[in-house]
Amino acid sequence: MIQKTTSKAFVLLAAIIFPFFSIAQININPYAYSPQKKVECTKGAVVSAHPLASKVGVEIMKKGGNAMDAAIAMQLALAVVYPGAGNIGGGGFTVARLANGKNLAIDFREKAPDNASRNMYLNQKGDAQLELSQNGHLSSGVPGTVAGIFTELKYARLPFRKLIQPAIDLAEDGFAISEAEARNLNAAQASFKKYNTMTPLFIKSTAWKAGDTLIQKDLAKTLKLIRDDGAKGFYEGETADLIVAEMKRGNGIMTLDDLKNYTAKEREAVVFPYKSDYTIITMPLPASGGVLLPQMMRMVEDQPLKRYGFETKESVHLMVEVERLAYADRAKFLGDKDFVKVPVKLLTSYPYIIQRMKLYDLEKAGNSKDIQAGHILPESEETTHLNTYDKEGNAVSITTTLNGEYGSSTVVGGAGFLLNNEMDDFSIKPGVPNMYGAVGGEANAIAPGKRMLSSMTPTIVLKDNKPFLVVGTPGGTTITTSVFQTLIDIIEFGMSPEDAVNKPKFHHQWLPDVIFVEKGFPSDVKEELIKMGYKIMEREAIGRTEVIQIMPDGKIIAVGDRRGEDTAEGY
Ligand code: GLY
Repeated sequence: MIQKTTSKAFVLLAAIIFPFFSIAQININPYAYSPQKKVECTKGAVVSAHPLASKVGVEIMKKGGNAMDAAIAMQLALAVVYPGAGNIGGGGFTVARLANGKNLAIDFREKAPDNASRNMYLNQKGDAQLELSQNGHLSSGVPGTVAGIFTELKYARLPFRKLIQPAIDLAEDGFAISEAEARNLNAAQASFKKYNTMTPLFIKSTAWKAGDTLIQKDLAKTLKLIRDDGAKGFYEGETADLIVAEMKRGNGIMTLDDLKNYTAKEREAVVFPYKSDYTIITMPLPASGGVLLPQMMRMVEDQPLKRYGFETKESVHLMVEVERLAYADRAKFLGDKDFVKVPVKLLTSYPYIIQRMKLYDLEKAGNSKDIQAGHILPESEETTHLNTYDKEGNAVSITTTLNGEYGSSTVVGGAGFLLNNEMDDFSIKPGVPNMYGAVGGEANAIAPGKRMLSSMTPTIVLKDNKPFLVVGTPGGTTITTSVFQTLIDIIEFGMSPEDAVNKPKFHHQWLPDVIFVEKGFPSDVKEELIKMGYKIMEREAIGRTEVIQIMPDGKIIAVGDRRGEDTAEGY
């Protein structure tokens, strides 16, 4: 049984011009596709930020692949069809719950190159140079995605060449770009011109438009090296040489040793109960969600959220205060725990939570007045998330990123992929906000080989010990609060996954001391919150949440966010 709800379809002109063909013997037309927002099915489902990537995922499952096979193929396809955030030049985290009950937490976060140093983004006067931490060659951490994929591969079933072939075909033969991609590529032209040493194919003399074909031969070549030589096809040999040559041309610091020595890390997943029925599985540090999500869930666990209801004055006040408390801890305590001591147990313990909640005043807005406010650049939140679930009961949740949209804007000459600008996720100077307005301190200072703190929060929820939700989102610092809100919306307010994804979201991150709300947030609640002492700012879309919900009768519901071209597929 399958039911589909298609959003306003955009049918690409190229569909008429180009003939239909299959890529990698799987049934995909890269010139005619449209976002599909919801699917109900019984055998397997996927959801990602791009219709072609979701199509690749479901087709891999139909060919006998499990949820991990589908997730790997989708990650690789996103690196081709969604260059703003899909990547092989970035990093991320994978959380999975296997059908045999094993939990996985794979850390393929970028790390600082060995030549990185604590004050590398400060000028002689000691001022932070955000231009360098956020753009171009010096802003890139050592990429982790390819190492992450080969760690995931241990849990997949199909041969790797089958999983990567759709991405190779999409890069080599091309696909029609969507309207959003055309808009984003046009907006990034000046950055591409400024931060590249060789002209990348993303630069075009006339404006990009929906339906234009994007062919990426260099990227196809790099993907073939990875297909044939495994992780070495990226971290050693021709690709590594091209990355280091790019670094030399652009005054970057990444070396062949940095690349060769990169490893993804399998960590112990953070697993905690919520009320009696639910178990939440999420990513540990350097993903901050591994501390903030248990903190926030525990802070609200005994509160009457159900009675307060969705987006009432009382529920928003409670959730915002909880977010404020958690993000204040983030700034002070969190960093890569392979390098700094982080009191994770204490921060998530019930006695500490009870202590912290004494600061919550039922009647009054809290105040983050001690430290200067940061600023937020919402258009830069280009991370991406995908979920998969298969009929055997394997669930995979992956968030991956270049950091800002198109990362550092630097394409590796001759290798065709964008490098991340993840170094900006370190605290480049205590108290100086990063591009998401997040401040940090000692714990997240730069050190050679250290991984920068992340907000990414790929999460799986079990109900009565069976997979119930697979959740995640991009959105910089809003990631953790969006995952928190999505869990509360479904578990406490009994919302459908569709509503939990699509209803307006809100966000507070301690500094700046403002509640950010999306358009559509109820205006009467806004007025009441202002009377309580809150500052409220309306902003652009918060995240692009993807959810798969598994119902007690086995029905699988997958939902892609209305805020983008996110697409659910299933069968
Ligand atoms: N670059 C966004 C994050 O990792 O939080």
